[in-house]
This record gives sequence, structure tokens and C-alpha cells, in this order.
Amino acid sequence: MSLQQRAIRGAILDFVDDPALSGDDAWRYIEDGILWIEDGRVKKTGSYEELSAELPESIELHEYAHHLILPGFIDTHIHYPQTEMIAAYGERLLEWLETYTFPVESKFSDEAYGREIASVFLDELLKNGTTTALVFGTVHPESVDAFFTEAQQRRLRMIAGKVMMDRNAPDFICDEADESYADSKALIERWHGVDRLQYAVTPRFAPTSTDRQLELAGKLLKEYPSVYMHTHLAENVEECAWVAELFPQSKHYLDVYDQAGLLSERSVFAHGIHLCDDACERLSETGSAIAHCPTSNLFLGSGLIELERLAEKGVQVGVGTDVGGGTSFSMFQTLADAYKVQAMRNRKLDPFRALYLATLGGARALDLEGYIGNFEPGCEADFITIDLHATPFLKFRTERCRSLFETLFVLNTLGDDRLIDTTWVMGEIAHRRDS
Ligand code: GUN
Ligand code: ZN
Repeated sequence: MSLQQRAIRGAILDFVDDPALSGDDAWRYIEDGILWIEDGRVKKTGSYEELSAELPESIELHEYAHHLILPGFIDTHIHYPQTEMIAAYGERLLEWLETYTFPVESKFSDEAYGREIASVFLDELLKNGTTTALVFGTVHPESVDAFFTEAQQRRLRMIAGKVMMDRNAPDFICDEADESYADSKALIERWHGVDRLQYAVTPRFAPTSTDRQLELAGKLLKEYPSVYMHTHLAENVEECAWVAELFPQSKHYLDVYDQAGLLSERSVFAHGIHLCDDACERLSETGSAIAHCPTSNLFLGSGLIELERLAEKGVQVGVGTDVGGGTSFSMFQTLADAYKVQAMRNRKLDPFRALYLATLGGARALDLEGYIGNFEPGCEADFITIDLHATPFLKFRTERCRSLFETLFVLNTLGDDRLIDTTWVMGEIAHRRDS
């Protein structure tokens, strides 16, 4: 049986390390390159000149002039049930949750409804070039069944979990500790490792879990060491003060999770804006990651993350849209705001590091390097083609760029879903802009 082979021709960019550590050695760029795919995986990349002679004559060749080929974006923190309440007016985190989020999430006890929203959500991700995400469901196990069913149909690599929350929220959106353990366990057994789907134990955040529930979350992670842990951390000052009140015996916010055994290479904490040195060091020591969500941090007035401090402490960082606290599914829009957050602090986020964070940085945060995030041979062929001439104005602006650095910065700053010409999943086109 012959294996399905394809060759994609265009300018190819990917990362092998964090530019904050390795500078220009962190990225690879081939101006006229070939991405050679075999059976849904990367076989090889190289220059067109070099590789064209090696390609089988019958190979399907896709040519992309004035396009950039990049690994699919990785969104390390997003809530699919909040798709319908993105852009809700006027509140900061705790009031925003009470006013908008909890009522909307209550609808997801209905699996059919969950599938409807999951379908809209996944289509939107693909349209924006995002091929993997770490996703919050709701407290209802049905929300996860719905999500994974839709993701599986699209052959996507997705990580998701049922929210655990047993206090400090309306009854209609709460579970109980033992029930949350049993429901999470059943979902892990049903979905974790099925096709490209993986499970994340998902306590919402410390204020909405009892000690007992956090302890049971830790028990699940011990029982299933390959599942993920996904929660929120130190997003907003009122939230931090509340955690200090609720957990007086903890050294700091992260310590609440640490004491429950929730820190590991498979743990992702959204936000991490207001952290002490000890917390940064524990994140680093345990290989835990921060999902930086700039559009959300600006929209909810949560604060300005200290990216350089996390890098200095050796903390893994990925980027998240945090829809619906975040205001866009677009990784470009998210990177544009990440730049502005650092500008407000008189710091810079260069476009290479930004695109690293949205690709290989995300894969590392999710402990998935070698599977996704770059074009190393054997990686799953999830990638996007970005059209530098997507609009007349973008053509006008990119034609005036004199370096790759400048072009990438223009894309990061001005980009949105219009730039994503095609999104490929396991070597097949999953979204085409014009169809
Ligand atoms: N903290 C607890 N729940 C949430 C949520 O749904 N969104 C955000 N941004 N922060 C949270
Ligand atoms: Zn969130």
C-alpha cells in the first residue's frame, strides 16, 4: 500500500527553541521551501531547489506564492462554553463570572446544545489557524462528551476537561467533591488517549473548590499520570485577596494547588499575573506552565504580566485566547495585545518570540513537543498557510517590509482570520478561507 504523500511549497518558518534563550538559533526559515508530508506527518522540510529532485513524480504539489507556512497555532487556555458570551460589557473577573459566565455555562447540561456550540467553536478555531487547544468545559460531564465528539470528528488534537467546582458559586453550576471525582474519572476512562484527544483535570480556580475537591483532583492526577491539570491562577487582585482569605494556611495562591499535588509538567495555569518569586520558582521546578492571555487581561482589567521575569525564572509559557474573557479567537490579535501589554511596561515582545509562544512554546507548555508545534520529521502535519496579500492593504504594507522580522511584526500586529488561507490537520485541508 502506498502512503499518502503531499508537498507544500512556500516560505516556511518554525522554531526549535525559545528565542529568549537561543536568539536567532531558535528559528528556521526557508524562503522557497517544501514541507513534505507522508501519511499525515512531516517527512522532511528543505529548500525547493534541494528537495524537488527527490520528490516522487506523482506527488500532489500545493504551491503557495506570497504565503508563509507555519505550524498550526496552539491555544493553551480557552473556554468553549463561553463562545456565545464573548464581549460581555462592564465587569471585572468576579462580577463577570457571576453576571455572565455562570448563567451561560448552566446550559451545557444538555449534550446536544454542547455539540452545537462546540461545532461553532471548533470551526472558529480552524478559521483562525488554531489546531490544538487546552479547553475548559463546564461542570457538566455532558459538556465534555459533546466537545470531544465534535473534536474527534475533525481529527483534532485537543485537551479538555469537566470543570470541578463545589462552592462559592450558584447551586445550578456546582458539583460535589466526590461526584466531581467520579465524573472526571469516568471521562478520563472514556476519552483520554482516544485518537488525538486527552483529558485535563479541571478545577475552575481555588475559590470555587473545597480542600477536599482539590485533594481529589490531586488523587486523579496520581492515578492517571498522563492526564493534564488545567486551572486559573493569580489573574486579578480581588481574586488573590479572596484566596488568601479562604486558604489562610497556604503560603501563597500557587501553594494552594501545590499542597494538593497539582503541579507537574502537565499542569497549565491560566494568567499568573500576580505572582511572588517563590511561586515562580515552584512553577519552574515542577515544569508547570503559564498560559498568558493578553486580550483577556486587558478586557477584564486584570493586569500586565511580567513575561521577562517568567523567562528569567525558567517558567514555561504559552499563549491563550481565554475566550470569552478574551476578546478574539485570533492568535494574531492575541499576539498584538501581548505586544501592547509589554509596551505598557516599557518592555518589548519581539515577533519571533511571539510566534514561538504561539507554536512550539505552546507545545512545550502542553508537554507535546515532538508531536506538534514545529516541522521536525515525524510531527503531526498540523499547519497553516498565511496569505501576505490577504487584503489590498496588507499587500501594500508587507511589500514595504525589508526584513523577516518586520514582516512578522506586521502580521502579528495587523493579522486576523483573513490572513489564514488554509488550515491543515494531519496533512489534510480542514479549513479553506474562500470556501
Ligand atoms: N477564573 C475562574 N473562572 C474563570 C473564567 O471562566 N475565566 C477567566 N478568565 N478567569 C476565571
Ligand atoms: Zn479562563
